[in-house]
Amino acid sequence: MVKVDLSGASSFFTGAGPDFAAAERAHRVLSEGTGLGNDFIGWLGLPQRMKDTELPAILEAAKLIRSRSQALVVIGIGGSYLGARGAIELLKPIPGKDDPKVFFVGNGLSADALCDTIELIGDKDFDVNVISKSGTTLEPAAAFRIFRELLAKKYGDKADEHIFATTDAKRGVLKSLADAHGWPSFVVPDDVGGRFSVLSAVGLLPMAVAGIDVERVINAAIEEFKALDLRSPENPAWQYAAARQNLYSKGYGIEILGCYEPSFRFMAEWWKQLYGESEGKDGKGIFPASVEFTADLHSMGQFIQQGPRTLMESIVRFEKSRCAYPFPFEEANADGLNYIAGRDMAEVSNIAADAVKAAHISGGVPNLVITVPKRDEEGFAALVCFFELACAISGYMSGVNPFDQPGVEAYKKNMFRMLGKPGA
Ligand code: PA5
Repeated sequence: MVKVDLSGASSFFTGAGPDFAAAERAHRVLSEGTGLGNDFIGWLGLPQRMKDTELPAILEAAKLIRSRSQALVVIGIGGSYLGARGAIELLKPIPGKDDPKVFFVGNGLSADALCDTIELIGDKDFDVNVISKSGTTLEPAAAFRIFRELLAKKYGDKADEHIFATTDAKRGVLKSLADAHGWPSFVVPDDVGGRFSVLSAVGLLPMAVAGIDVERVINAAIEEFKALDLRSPENPAWQYAAARQNLYSKGYGIEILGCYEPSFRFMAEWWKQLYGESEGKDGKGIFPASVEFTADLHSMGQFIQQGPRTLMESIVRFEKSRCAYPFPFEEANADGLNYIAGRDMAEVSNIAADAVKAAHISGGVPNLVITVPKRDEEGFAALVCFFELACAISGYMSGVNPFDQPGVEAYKKNMFRMLGKPGA
């Protein structure tokens, strides 16, 4: 389990502090399935379900792709891509020599980005994993049409063998296409929304192709969800959810998630979607933003230290770094850096993190620290389970349905009408 340290927020809490009784009620409503959006809580049992059903087929598909292709093109947007990208950047930021490169497309409408990716793929052998629960989202559907054409040009009548679809079990255009063309398909379960789907085939197939040990991820996630069922203020998900809600009630309406590992960047994007789409509704919500430290201390650091006092800061820290790099000693000491000679880079980074924490607290920014043992499969699983559970609890505590997203329809309606979609 992750550990949450609330000490950096304690002097900012209002009233009696985090309301653990409310967190307990929210957790109970969630697990009894009596809360808002209760038909979308399947993510709680998802790791075990995956182990019992699709995991072997996912591993088989990944093995096939890895054996014949140097690239996998993952087509999807929002919850249909951010988790996989977060996992791959966190755990495999640099592909190994036998790992296909995973490209993400269909997450926007930029012609330039699309052309750049096509150029990067060049004459590499590639497979496509198209991911869309609804099957109707414009961005991935448009990219998929383009990549089907590219596959047809490259592989002719064998093109269909290079397509893997991840979509609804029964409904939707993508499901119909998959059935008609005989593409292997994986399921986005009915009771799991896009942003809670990373531990389904949505995340697992791209992760497995990238060389991540998804069996380890799933086994760890099964244990994590069991551990997080703890009904006590010791539960880190209660601590995080209750602390955020307490600070929000005191006017801290923006949360910045920071990490000292650049490879965490897309995990933060995944987190932003999870919390932004789950909580930002009915005129309520904490705005999720992210920073990468120490880089952003030299850009956003000024704002964090002295801007409007509406920020709370949550920092993800990994207890052990993967690599040790001691600073060399130099007799001449011309650069004046001998005061860190012999120390490991990770130690220096930890000292910097402590210094930043103290500075930001003294500047009026409540600080929560989320500690994960290692940047590995188990650490990833721990973060996913923790953030998902805390998000649901926090959403219920604030009185919203954390599992819907009615607000995203507004732009789609306008766009479809302006593009002349029939019936729009
Ligand atoms: O969390 C969500 O439900 C959304 O972010 C969806 O994942 C996103 O809109 C993509 O939808 P779809 O998978 O239906 O293409």
